[in-house]
Amino acid sequence: MPVIEVMGLASGVSRMYPVGPLDLEVNLLTWLRLQHITMASSCDGKGVCRKCAIQNGWLTCELTLGEFLERCPEAKILVSYL
Ligand code: FES
Repeated sequence: MPVIEVMGLASGVSRMYPVGPLDLEVNLLTWLRLQHITMASSCDGKGVCRKCAIQNGWLTCELTLGEFLERCPEAKILVSYL
């Protein structure tokens, strides 16, 4: 089972999360919130506010977890708050 590392940019804290096959189709913003990771958003996932951005300016509301892993095989998500 693959594992995703989520690291807080301010705290430097990292947490590891196992990923199941069903997770790959889940919107990344939703998946992060399901892991109880606080993600900012003021457009409710419409791709307008850009507050849900992670590294490289990628918008978590516009990616599935599977699409993220294709872009980032090292499976590391950098978030503002953790
Ligand atoms: S939630 Fe607003 S751009 Fe992603």
